[in-house]
Amino acid sequence: MINETAQKLRGGYYTPVDLAAFIARWVKEISPKTILEPSCGDGAFFQAFKKVRGFSKTQITGFELDKVEAAKAKACAKESGLSNTTIKNQDFLQWALEQMEEGQPRFDAVVGNPPFVRYQYLPAPFQVTAEKVFKELELPFTKHTNAWVSFILASMAVLRPGGRLAMVVPSEIIHVTHAQSLRSYLGRECRRLVIIDPEELWFDGTLQGAVILLAEKRQSKTDKAEGLGMYPVKGREFLRLTPSDVFEAPQAINGKTVQGKWTRALLDLETRSLFDELADHDEVFRFDEIAKVDVGIVTGANKFFLVDDDVVRRFKLKKWAHPMFGRSDHCPGVIYDEAQHEANAANGKPTNFLWFLEHGQKVDAAAKAYIQRGEDEQLHTRYKCRVRSPWYTVPSVYSTEIGMLTCLIQRWGFEGWREWRKPLACCRKLDV
Ligand SMILES: C[S@@+](CC[C@H](N)C(=O)[O-])C[C@H]1O[C@@H](n2cnc3c(N)ncnc32)[C@H](O)[C@@H]1O
Repeated sequence: MINETAQKLRGGYYTPVDLAAFIARWVKEISPKTILEPSCGDGAFFQAFKKVRGFSKTQITGFELDKVEAAKAKACAKESGLSNTTIKNQDFLQWALEQMEEGQPRFDAVVGNPPFVRYQYLPAPFQVTAEKVFKELELPFTKHTNAWVSFILASMAVLRPGGRLAMVVPSEIIHVTHAQSLRSYLGRECRRLVIIDPEELWFDGTLQGAVILLAEKRQSKTDKAEGLGMYPVKGREFLRLTPSDVFEAPQAINGKTVQGKWTRALLDLETRSLFDELADHDEVFRFDEIAKVDVGIVTGANKFFLVDDDVVRRFKLKKWAHPMFGRSDHCPGVIYDEAQHEANAANGKPTNFLWFLEHGQKVDAAAKAYIQRGEDEQLHTRYKCRVRSPWYTVPSVYSTEIGMLTCLIQRWGFEGWREWRKPLACCRKLDV
């Protein structure tokens, strides 16, 4: 928490005006008389309304919790010639809950970019309000949630039937488990949903992946729901297109896709059918039906813990050494057997994992000397090492009959972090 900046804690990253203008053009297609901006920041969307034109008489309601930003938004709306705008310097969710209780959806359109703040970082009263939104909509709640989830839920709840909601939202909406309630709710409430999914990051200075969510609420419960479409984009060329063409372009899919993770919508029809066919096949099993997955160990200092035979010999560490390979190029193929292990060792590759304090054994003088060398190199101050005690005992070590080396880039972010991971596969003898 201490390391979180004030900007991050209020989710204060603003929408580039060209993206906001695209969104404004999309909602303008239904000639909205009333528009909601639930977390308006300094007014990026008001600038967009000015750029797009045609909003000067629209009744716009903006919310902004931060007093300074709310004043900026007010000035921005005025400067943008939006004569019928009200900026409320208060919590949007609390206000939305009151509207929901009165049962009066009223906005023709909602635009914005909700705050991205983890539930655990929200002040207690806001946590309570966020949870109440789920309750009011009778949706399962989890503390893994993030402020943007309740903002989209509440915004959708105060949108009139047939209205349009368009927001810049974290790309996690596509797949994170904690947003399942939101995905299901949107699937039920909307005639059509489209995600504009960019290859690039839109927010300078952050690693947060974002997408544009375009959602049109069903006119009535009998209105057919078309489902979800994905519209992948590269660069900003799409901003020149007519927004409704973008909205209607992707083939929307329904059923399992809208109810579950939206990643299915990224597959083409043929691949999806093959996937479903295989999933229903008697002899094909889901991975989690036959295996348990655990991550590999994290040493925090691979060069220190993963060493060649020479180091083991010189420092008399045989007692602590376990056979291991740590890189995919140490296993050329799918079988890692003793012959491969010995060939690696003969080639001076690091084939020994040093596991100190196995089964409660006390470190001996040789190990102590080696550990001291690590401390001389300040390894004990590295993050992964200093958060465990003692720093030189690597946790979660186990051997498996089968191991997988994974090399994964998380395209849709991991709470904002894109990361490469290359866990070490630890095996005593891998003989598949
Ligand atoms: C991601 S920024 C987006 C601002 C603007 N919508 C834009 O697109 O540039 C989110 C804004 O929500 C504000 N905010 C955070 N919690 C809020 C709340 N409970 N009610 C209203 N505004 C809030 C933050 O201060 C921040 O300015």
